Amino acid sequence: MESIAYFPAQDLEGLFTADCVDFMADMPDECIDLAVTSPPYDNLRDYKGYSFEFERIADGLFRVIKEGGVLVWVVGDKINGGRSLTSFRQGIYFQEIGFNMHDIMIYQKKNTPFMRSNAYTNAYEFMFVLSKGKPKAFNPLKEKTVRNGFEMVVFNKGTDGVNRKNLKELKTEKTKTNIWKYAVGLGGTTSDRIAFKHPATFPEKLALDHILSWSNEGDLVFDPMCGSGTTCKMAFLSKRKYLGIDISQEYINIAKTRLFEAQQDLWGGQI
Ligand SMILES: C[S@@+](CC[C@H](N)C(=O)[O-])C[C@H]1O[C@@H](n2cnc3c(N)ncnc32)[C@H](O)[C@@H]1O
Repeated sequence: MESIAYFPAQDLEGLFTADCVDFMADMPDECIDLAVTSPPYDNLRDYKGYSFEFERIADGLFRVIKEGGVLVWVVGDKINGGRSLTSFRQGIYFQEIGFNMHDIMIYQKKNTPFMRSNAYTNAYEFMFVLSKGKPKAFNPLKEKTVRNGFEMVVFNKGTDGVNRKNLKELKTEKTKTNIWKYAVGLGGTTSDRIAFKHPATFPEKLALDHILSWSNEGDLVFDPMCGSGTTCKMAFLSKRKYLGIDISQEYINIAKTRLFEAQQDLWGGQI
């Protein structure tokens, strides 16, 4: 483990191997603009036996996130006969400690291997968007509308019951819904082959879409359980500062390689 001293806010950047509970204890209050993270799901995967203390992590996050800052918590339940509902319990705990459940979004997987013999194939996870007070940043992502061009549009229905219509130009784009769909696997989740040495990387586009939505350039984006470094890579590429922690040295090495390669691609090796 790297030794951690108390961090002045301006030095909070980079990738560190540590238990995030200990690391956050050395961070100042209210220094994070946005956290995008995904916890170990019900110990579904073996993270080398590391402990996961949800309540302490949630408490730490509430303290280090700024007023108006946002936490995006990407989580799925263990399905073993039925659903564990761990995600719901975590959502309620977040609310109890003061977070506002600003939205419950869906991460839909375009291609999913999780078949069930007696229920429909699971194709989604939750993305809890938790804010500390009212979110200070919201840059809504847009998508193309299906109908565009000019159309006769109803503008007034008078007492005679007749619909009056005007020729109007339809909008070419609209704000996206809160169900986001991503391809998973090589080329979908990421094209970085090294990322697949981690068992549970989430899609780069998912991290990027949240970063663009809930933060602005120059903001500090945090992932306390950063795994292969997806959130940090996308924060870097979108001109935010990043701070990533993982308890595993092996995963931090993967994250450092991905960040190094992203920096080389962007700066042509001048780092
Ligand atoms: C679901 S994975 C995150 C994957 C990541 N979003 C990515 O795209 O690669 C959860 C991570 O939490 C880490 N972890 C578990 N307990 C931790 C703790 N107490 N402190 C820091 N990291 C922890 C695990 O090592 C694992 O890499």
